[in-house]
Amino acid sequence: MSCKVSASVLSADMLNLKAEIDKLCSSGVDMLHFDVMDGVFVNNITFGLPVLEQVRKASDITLDVHLMITDPLKYIGAFADAGADIITFHAESESNISETIKAIKDHGVKASLSVRPSTPVEVVYPYLNELDMVLIMTVEPGFGGQSFIPETLEKIRLLKKTISEIGCCTDIEVDGGINDKTAVLVKEAGANILVSGSYLFTAEKMRDAVNKIKDETRC
Ligand code: DX5
Ligand code: ZN
Repeated sequence: MSCKVSASVLSADMLNLKAEIDKLCSSGVDMLHFDVMDGVFVNNITFGLPVLEQVRKASDITLDVHLMITDPLKYIGAFADAGADIITFHAESESNISETIKAIKDHGVKASLSVRPSTPVEVVYPYLNELDMVLIMTVEPGFGGQSFIPETLEKIRLLKKTISEIGCCTDIEVDGGINDKTAVLVKEAGANILVSGSYLFTAEKMRDAVNKIKDETRC
């Protein structure tokens, strides 16, 4: 078994989004990663509900929605209705963490909590039994194409150890600067779902890049 690949739509050609999604799906990615930024929680603004609705219509693939917004609780219902299969929100947001996890699950969507590189991973521990996934940011959230921060590896190791001790089956996703080299490092540290944007979209052949990540992370 190898790590799952969640392809970041942020790096796609927005004028040709349908073709880009078809290309990602036929290249063997497991999920599409959809980065929502509000210009307040992070210094960038991306896309939101109308685009997600269209992406949902374009494919049956798992939609992995990453909310980098100030008050995610307010928008859980809307993103669930727009077609999210997994919703990740940030521990550093202003929403109550337990209430937001409950709202996500009440909508029949998988719940995931994320931490920025500078936030200690311990903040997610009290919620591990309720969470389907934890997203460890391996770059500062806001932009694609940044370099992987190696100090985040220790957070992945600690989280993996804690999940094993508790005996729950929470997935560990990583996001930012993932390529065929960093994929090996995060897999060895304990991650099992890898977000990748610029590496896939700048590859000569997207399918080869997906296969390379999968081959390099095979157990
Ligand atoms: C950054 C986003 C990432 C980004 C990853 O804030 O959350 O999902 O698209 O892109 P790459 O793989 O280029 O670092
Ligand atoms: Zn993301």
